[in-house]
Amino acid sequence: MVTKQTTSPLLAIRGLITHFQVKETIVKAVDDVSLDIYPQEVLALVGETGCGKSVLALSILRLLPKNSQIEGSIRFNGVEILEASEEELRKLRGKEIGMIPQSQATSLNPLLKVGWQVREVLQLHKTLGKFEAREKVVKLFTRLQLPDPAKKMNYYPHQLSGGMRQRVLVSMGVACQPKLILVDEPTKGLDAVLRKEVVTMLGEEAAENRSSMLLITHDFSVAAVLADRIAVMYAGEIVEMGSAAEILEKPGHPYTQSLLDSLPGRGFKPIRGFSPSLSSLPAGCRFQPRCRDACPDCSALHPKIALTGANHYVRCFLC
Ligand SMILES: Nc1ncnc2c1ncn2[C@@H]1O[C@H](COP(=O)(O)OP(=O)(O)OP(=O)(O)O)[C@@H](O)[C@H]1O
Ligand SMILES: [Mg+2]
Repeated sequence: MVTKQTTSPLLAIRGLITHFQVKETIVKAVDDVSLDIYPQEVLALVGETGCGKSVLALSILRLLPKNSQIEGSIRFNGVEILEASEEELRKLRGKEIGMIPQSQATSLNPLLKVGWQVREVLQLHKTLGKFEAREKVVKLFTRLQLPDPAKKMNYYPHQLSGGMRQRVLVSMGVACQPKLILVDEPTKGLDAVLRKEVVTMLGEEAAENRSSMLLITHDFSVAAVLADRIAVMYAGEIVEMGSAAEILEKPGHPYTQSLLDSLPGRGFKPIRGFSPSLSSLPAGCRFQPRCRDACPDCSALHPKIALTGANHYVRCFLC
């Protein structure tokens, strides 16, 4: 895959803040995030649980609950999503921006046949008759190697295995050949064989549709296969961003280094301590209480993200 950074970005996020009000406290789930995704580019977003990855994806689609406050700018293909009307958002969701959500359990309606659920996405956005839409779903299921696709159309979600349900979700996300696909933890809970299949399937679908992808994953091995660039998120912020090769081989931020050192093939050393609560963040660098290299400045000042090499950004005083 080639990063086409010479063209304008398809998605440009600037200073995005998504906070939640929970009683008297503010949860700073996404806190001043800026990033670009270029046409046909795959950007992986990695980080520990609770750091704000899913909230970032849901912010792009403006699928946030009532207790949220959102600020900044999300421009998609020239449209400012934060100023878009409900009608404009309905047209974007599914058609221009597809989503393969994190939870299979809550994303498929248990009472409806899976074929019907995929057909609904197609009929919402494309002027297809019932028969054409049905044919298209069979084609999608066939391409995603769902065994016996015509029969599977009539199955309810509980009649399918986890891997098959994942394929149904992928087919819903890519049904309208969106320009951008948001994929949230596509391999969570899958065994190694299925993980490889799902990764291959996503890569093929993105290539076939010439889609860009925001790939949210805990798994660096998934990012390594699919991503052109990787953004590392910690406690609501992007702490490092660069080409996949640089991030994996020459990580600059101590957090990225620790994440990579915690992998089974790279030392298996757990990161000490825990991520901070997003409603009471530490002063200075948010990673400093866990950082093996922290110096006095790190607890006093909040580092800005800065360019440290060709398209490589790091939020750390030590870099
Ligand atoms: N509706 C909400 N109200 C209050 N806090 C919320 C709400 N939704 C999410 N949060 C909080 O926002 C933070 C970020 O959540 P998010 O789901 O984005 O994490 P994540 O990085 O996707 O984690 P995981 O890897 O486990 O999926 C968490 O602290 C979560 O508790
Ligand atoms: Mg999540």
